[in-house]
This record gives sequence, structure tokens and C-alpha cells, in this order.
Amino acid sequence: MKLATLMATAALFAALPAMAADEPAAGAQPPAKVAQTCGACHGVDGVAKAPMYPDLAGQYKDYIEQALREYRNGERVNPIMDPMAKSLSEAEIVEIATWYSQQKPVVYTPDIKVPFVPKAGN
Ligand code: HEC
Repeated sequence: MKLATLMATAALFAALPAMAADEPAAGAQPPAKVAQTCGACHGVDGVAKAPMYPDLAGQYKDYIEQALREYRNGERVNPIMDPMAKSLSEAEIVEIATWYSQQKPVVYTPDIKVPFVPKAGN
């Protein structure tokens, strides 16, 4: 086994206990790229690690595939995502889109910025 493969495998197994904690689908293994790269920002379970990164959990599979193909071919431009998408094969795009589309989305309740006071009689 090549050293790089060995190190990647070791990193994957080191991450497993943490991943198991936030995986809704018990026992299912995330695609390697999700565990190694995408999960750092989008979460292995598709729930983003910070508000500046989009959630992918429960997103349509077709939408995720299209977004990744567009970053890859330059139709959609983002300095963070362009190199990420360019590192993916077509098979990986399908595998990743399938994974994230099957994760459970979190309920999101937006902050209400303008005070809303219903009038009596309305
Ligand atoms: C360093 C953080 C980071 C990493 C790592 C990362 N992304 Fe992203 N991703 C982003 C940001 C930021 C955006 C929003 C970019 C934009 O506005 O177009 C994004 C957008 C996306 C979108 C489009 C979401 C939407 O709602 O349109 C998809 C799909 C996506 N990323 C998939 C992936 C995949 C698959 C990987 C791993 C190969 C990955 N990302 C790795 C930060 C990251």
C-alpha cells in the first residue's frame, strides 16, 4: 500500500467516531471525499459547520450535481468551490450528491428582524 493511501485510510478511520456521532443514517458510510474534504465546511451530514457555508442535507440530488458540474466547467464561479469541484470525477459527483440528498435537513427558523405586532381585530 502506498504511503498516501495509508495516510488517507488512517485519516478516514480517525474521523469515524466523530462522524458516527452526527450521522442520522446509522451504519452508512459517507463517500471518501465527503469525509476528507467537503465535511469540513458542509458537515459530513450536510449540516454546515458555519453560517457562511450552505447546508447540503436534503438538497435535491440533481441540484447538487448541477452545482458541482457548473463550478467544474466555470459556469458558476466561486474561489472556494472551483478547486473543490475540479478535483471531483463524474462518479464522485453522483456519489456525493446521492449522499447529501439523503441526509436529514435541519429545521431552520429565520430571525424576524422587523417587530411584528398583529393589530387587534386582524
Ligand atoms: C472551505 C470550505 C468548503 C469546502 C471544503 C467545500 N465547500 Fe462547497 N461551498 C463552500 C462555499 C463557501 C459555498 C458557497 C459558494 C457560492 O456562493 O457559490 C459552497 C457551495 C457548495 C455547493 C452549492 C450549494 C448551493 O446551495 O448552491 C455545493 C453543491 C457544494 N459546495 C459542494 C461541496 C462538495 C461536494 C465539497 C467537497 C468536494 C465541498 N463543497 C467542499 C465552501 C466549501
